[in-house]
Amino acid sequence: MCGIVGYIGPSDAADPIMEGLARLEYRGYDSAGICLNIDEKLVLFKKEGKLVNLGSILNEVKPKSSFGIGHTRWATHGQVNDTNAHPHMNEEFSIVHNGIIENASELKAGLDYNFLSETDTEVFLALVTQAYKREADVEKAIFSAFHAVEGNSAFVVMHVKTRKLYAIKHSAPLVCGVNETAGEFFVSSDPYALIGYTSKLYFPEDGILCVGNPGANLEFKFFDSEMNPSSKYKTQIETRSKDVADKGNFEHFMLKEIFEQPQLISKIEKRLQDEDFKLPFSQIATNAHGVFNIIGCGTALHAGMLMRNFFETYNQKRAITDFASEFRYKTPLLQKGDVGLFITQSGETADTLACQQHCKENGLKTYSIVNVEGSTIYRSCDKNILLEAGAEIGVASTKAFTQMVVMGYLLSQSFAGKFGETETKNELQNASKAISDILSREEEIKKIASEIYNYKGFIFTGRGNQFPIALEGALKLKEIAYVHAEGYASGELKHGPIALFDEKMVNIAIINSDLYKKTLSNAQEVKARKGVMVIIGENHLEEMKEISDFYFDVNYFGVEKLKPIVSNVVLQLLSYHIAKLKGTDIDKPRNLAKSVTVE
Ligand code: F6R
Repeated sequence: MCGIVGYIGPSDAADPIMEGLARLEYRGYDSAGICLNIDEKLVLFKKEGKLVNLGSILNEVKPKSSFGIGHTRWATHGQVNDTNAHPHMNEEFSIVHNGIIENASELKAGLDYNFLSETDTEVFLALVTQAYKREADVEKAIFSAFHAVEGNSAFVVMHVKTRKLYAIKHSAPLVCGVNETAGEFFVSSDPYALIGYTSKLYFPEDGILCVGNPGANLEFKFFDSEMNPSSKYKTQIETRSKDVADKGNFEHFMLKEIFEQPQLISKIEKRLQDEDFKLPFSQIATNAHGVFNIIGCGTALHAGMLMRNFFETYNQKRAITDFASEFRYKTPLLQKGDVGLFITQSGETADTLACQQHCKENGLKTYSIVNVEGSTIYRSCDKNILLEAGAEIGVASTKAFTQMVVMGYLLSQSFAGKFGETETKNELQNASKAISDILSREEEIKKIASEIYNYKGFIFTGRGNQFPIALEGALKLKEIAYVHAEGYASGELKHGPIALFDEKMVNIAIINSDLYKKTLSNAQEVKARKGVMVIIGENHLEEMKEISDFYFDVNYFGVEKLKPIVSNVVLQLLSYHIAKLKGTDIDKPRNLAKSVTVE
């Protein structure tokens, strides 16, 4: 989704803005722009397409300015072109925006303003400008516009005369930051853009206006809508250095993130006895008695499906899962004592946030399993279990998925009173070993990828806890390799999809000792229809090898409940190598965004 970076300070503004925007490229975008204050005039550079297009213009012009805002746009209102790219400006103000103004058309109809673009953002610019003409006060003008618009948005405004940066938001991510030594102010839609630039971060609450003014004690000032100073923001000391945002020796962030998984699991295993780590698990386990409504989107929902299986199988707790985009528009049966559990890497997914609000309004306790501390879901839920995944940059989620499932497993262990027990510790240690073993066999997976990447389509199958992995494997393959892939429960093939099989269709079947005979029979049925069979198996069993065209034997190292996160790593690498052979943009696949902040 849209990315925002703003800068005001003594140095060249274009450098940190462009670097920040480059870091946000992973979120997905279709055009980019920057507005700089040059000799007390706002000067705009905008270009459709990748950020390098904008970069080439700036390299030629070499504009000098110490005050500016930049934006990567993911189109919602109006086509993808230079004009609709942000920022939008006039002689007074320049504005960037992330989100959607839901009542933009109604507002636009009532405004006497010379609109240049088709965007909803320009409606906000028009509102601010008109209010400023009336009030002659920038803060009041921004509040007046902000109160007129509906929907979830973050806005950053630069005002040339006051030489100040203003930022305000409603249910959309926004972070402000200062570098105390260098005397610099930053604002962004994502703290990741500011790593290495800031020493202190500020996360404002909804409706609080943040004003960055280099003259004033090097602090952002925060105001409520009555223009009273406000303390409704959280602060965080930033110690991370720039190399956190680096992919090291890996060709892609996705591959780096796949390889981080064993260490991240070991890190959790070492924290099992930490009181602050245990706390949210025990608090949720003590308070949650009713039905678990487990909600998420895409990969996060697949992790949620595994959690549902854990809770029902190992804890006899009723749990339902649903796509956030479906749950929010039906009339879910919610009863007193039920809880909402929201699974999300970013903590900003619009549909998931709406479901959390719905549950809250219906009196349910709401909990999240989330990767981004301070994100909207994190701030909105009663309790949060934080992933220990670090920033996930590859658009295709890998390490965050694994961590979500591990956290779901730990919650299940907590329900069973086994959180810190040897069984739990061993399971995590073994999962880490088993995943390391798969990573050490990357060449074998690469070889299979090279044999199958040109086939017509891919059907992933699994049973029980491997069924959500079949869904996840298919999702990963289609999103990064742009090939048709579907996930099915193995037993469902004969109810329709088996008609697809011929010698050009691949079945990637995950078969392990759980429900072994039944899953094997399903693979045999496909083989009998000439399907190309890739088996991700266990225990080197001859009968599996015989029916497969390509066989990969997983050593689970004694892992029991967490088997699905182990087999999934084979699928992550398989998708990665198929995508590489296809030559796609693996870290930033077309049409996708890392954080989906629109419905
Ligand atoms: C796929 C993927 C998406 C996300 C989904 C939800 O690799 O990353 O399917 O899982 O968009 O995003 P979050 O977890 O941020 O709510």
